[in-house]
Amino acid sequence: MTATPFTELAASRHSVRSFRPDPVPADVLDAIVDDARHAPSWSNTRPYQVALATGARADRLRAAYVERFDQTLDVQHKKRGSMARMVLTGKIPDGDYPVWRRYPADLRPRSVEVGTGLYAHMGIAREDRAARDEAARANCRAFNAPVMGFVFVHKGLMPFAALDAGLMLQTLFLAAASRGVDSCALGTLATWRGPVDAEFDVPDDYRLITGFALGYADDAPVNGFRAPRRPLVLVPAKRPDEQEG
Ligand SMILES: Cc1cc2nc3c(=O)[nH]c(=O)nc-3n(C[C@H](O)[C@H](O)[C@H](O)COP(=O)(O)O)c2cc1C
Repeated sequence: MTATPFTELAASRHSVRSFRPDPVPADVLDAIVDDARHAPSWSNTRPYQVALATGARADRLRAAYVERFDQTLDVQHKKRGSMARMVLTGKIPDGDYPVWRRYPADLRPRSVEVGTGLYAHMGIAREDRAARDEAARANCRAFNAPVMGFVFVHKGLMPFAALDAGLMLQTLFLAAASRGVDSCALGTLATWRGPVDAEFDVPDDYRLITGFALGYADDAPVNGFRAPRRPLVLVPAKRPDEQEG
């Protein structure tokens, strides 16, 4: 069976984690955003909004996120008393949703697999804490992508708003891929809300669910990493289909 152009496009999209500084031309970015409106949504409500930052605004956001990240290093290193210190100093992450959550037991192995695969691909040893911190910090810089994006969902239409935002974001990513623009979703950026509020007037009812990066991949080894792509899990039927006899 030969792959359709759509299959090729969908397969070619992958998360890029190191970007060239070259900006995405404004007309290309506009066209990508315009394509994203073709995503379906719950009762056509499009219960999400997107903020885009480039240039100096994106650089201010990177600096603010790195500062927040570095404030949490002790907690991430599980240093004794660090959680209490974080609470007392008012440095608890102010994201709308808890990002640092333990994965359900059946899903955790997949997350571990992609995490260890990525770090191995980057040549970062498990015990090399400084290198691991730096790799995590790079998320906060949106991997130096020229475009930083933020997706907000309407709190009054959850969980469907989150579903719709995902449909929109993948449409946007594929629209980007079709124009040679690379992407990475950045849930890490939803750990903190303050940096975004300092730059954008986000309507009251909207909650930050994820960030993302857009730009052009550089030739860093990390971009050669490919996450496993398992087939969709199809829920087994309780009894054989009538036609199957
Ligand atoms: C909502 C969402 C948030 C994500 N957040 C991050 C992130 O913070 N950092 C990161 O490096 N990758 C992030 N990713 C990328 C996933 O790790 C990636 O999609 C997955 O490993 C599959 O790889 P692929 O995108 O290359 O197919 C995120 C993906 C999604 C959908």
